[in-house]
Amino acid sequence: MINEKPKSLLGLKDLTRLEIENILQQATLFKEIFNRPIKKVATLSNKVVVSLFYEPSTRTKASFDLALRMLGAGSLGFTPASSSVTKGETLIDTVKNLESMGVDAIIIRHGMGGAPHLVASNTNIPVVNAGDGFNEHPTQALLDMFTMIEEKGYIEGKKVAIIGDIMHSRVARSNIWGLTKCGAKVIVCGPPSLIPVGIESLGVTVTNNVEEAIEDADFINVLRVQLERQKGSFFPSTREYHREYGITAQRLKKAKSDAIIMHPGPMNRGVEISTEVADGPYNVILEQVRNGVAVRMAVLYMLLMRSKEI
Ligand code: CP
Repeated sequence: MINEKPKSLLGLKDLTRLEIENILQQATLFKEIFNRPIKKVATLSNKVVVSLFYEPSTRTKASFDLALRMLGAGSLGFTPASSSVTKGETLIDTVKNLESMGVDAIIIRHGMGGAPHLVASNTNIPVVNAGDGFNEHPTQALLDMFTMIEEKGYIEGKKVAIIGDIMHSRVARSNIWGLTKCGAKVIVCGPPSLIPVGIESLGVTVTNNVEEAIEDADFINVLRVQLERQKGSFFPSTREYHREYGITAQRLKKAKSDAIIMHPGPMNRGVEISTEVADGPYNVILEQVRNGVAVRMAVLYMLLMRSKEI
């Protein structure tokens, strides 16, 4: 169709189970490149992608950059603090200018939920959501799911406990959309003040009891307490949070002996997770980070080379 918008990855809410599984399958092929002496293919050698990070990032930004490099694409960095954003240029004007210079896709992280959707509706190139406000962080959930499949073979029927600040977590939302579509049993747990009202409507079980959440869980996905997003006091102190909800070795004695410990990072050691657990057996936290490169390669490849099939 003329003027048809290219495909974008804005959230897992928009994807079908098959589309999610196709991305994960493609990521498996790309992960194999890690084992090669020359970690590079020329698949996207004629493409240039700009990364607009309006919020700080270590893992997501670096892994998108690495993914682009390994696919042979050009990567254009953009730092709002040293751009004309500081002179009042709007987000839409910024992306329209970049598009007119010939960039082939936009990766965007923004503090405002819906910013990637706004960009996608005002450009004619693919947009990848690298995290928007409290809304979604689709590539994080995809790499979490990829890691789960690597660890246990499949997701269907597995129990996943998501523990922490559900209210302010885009990672939680994307995980819930993706995992429930793929047949996982998801239980969310945190202080009542950090559980959004009505979250059960997304197909999850809710508890405020961390022992109940981790009992029988195949995966325990520990979320960061997002102190910078909290506009108010949601619990008395980080020490109290750790005592009630922190994932510690003592607490894990009540979990399955082979439960896998996950965390999207960055971690607040001693708050939502103890150092003993973060560095202990059955944690796959750095494997998640490593898988992020393969998953982001798959997303970029599918959007830029197979735009009708994601
Ligand atoms: N997990 C995650 O999004 O980490 P960064 O904020 O470092 O990108």
